[in-house]
Amino acid sequence: MNRLITFEGVDGCGKSTQLKLAAAWLQARGEKVVTTFEPGDTALGKEIRRLLLAGEFVPVAEAELLLFLADRAQHVREVIQPALDTGAWVLCDRYSDSTLAYQLAARKLGEGASNLNEMLRFAECGVSPALTLWFDLPVAIAARRMKKRAEAGEKSTRLDDEAISFHERVAAAFSDQFDADEGRMVRIDASRDISGVQAQVEAVLQASYS
Ligand code: TYD
Repeated sequence: MNRLITFEGVDGCGKSTQLKLAAAWLQARGEKVVTTFEPGDTALGKEIRRLLLAGEFVPVAEAELLLFLADRAQHVREVIQPALDTGAWVLCDRYSDSTLAYQLAARKLGEGASNLNEMLRFAECGVSPALTLWFDLPVAIAARRMKKRAEAGEKSTRLDDEAISFHERVAAAFSDQFDADEGRMVRIDASRDISGVQAQVEAVLQASYS
């Protein structure tokens, strides 16, 4: 049984908070859970994350895509697949849907390129999610949350600092992916407060748990 659940959405949608709550919900039922994230949750990935997001370098779009995919392949082989092999649930903050939204759609790399989806599958090393929770939030609200975080001292990444039009393209891409999806993605209304979002997530978990 595939127990990989991915958490997706625009920056500021609240998925990381919900991932922790979902892990606690599963653990309270005696389940083994591994929480992880992309990019950066391996030793190599930590370096790739720094290259991608710290802002010291501005990779061209093609290099950006390849670095995210390199991080993913390392992550799948080193963390995700071994955890799944132990029977654990793996809750992963971002996965290939983010690459589709940020690189293929928002960076417009998908235009005219037919083989990029195959590259995405290649980087997954055979591991695709059983379930993807898409935290749907209007970009204007997400931007307000990001501003609050920055005011509280949280450092933004190179991608957080992209123009609002970029984040609008990311949001539209997630929505398109959801429309095209055949049952893997579940839409969560992320505009509700934390407990309102949590209740939706737990209802979905309950359905896939039993
Ligand atoms: P992070 O600080 O982990 O943000 P978040 O909590 O929003 O996930 O930064 C990850 C950033 O990398 C985020 O802006 C989305 C972006 N990203 C891509 O552009 N492509 C990808 O394939 C992945 C996994 C992330």
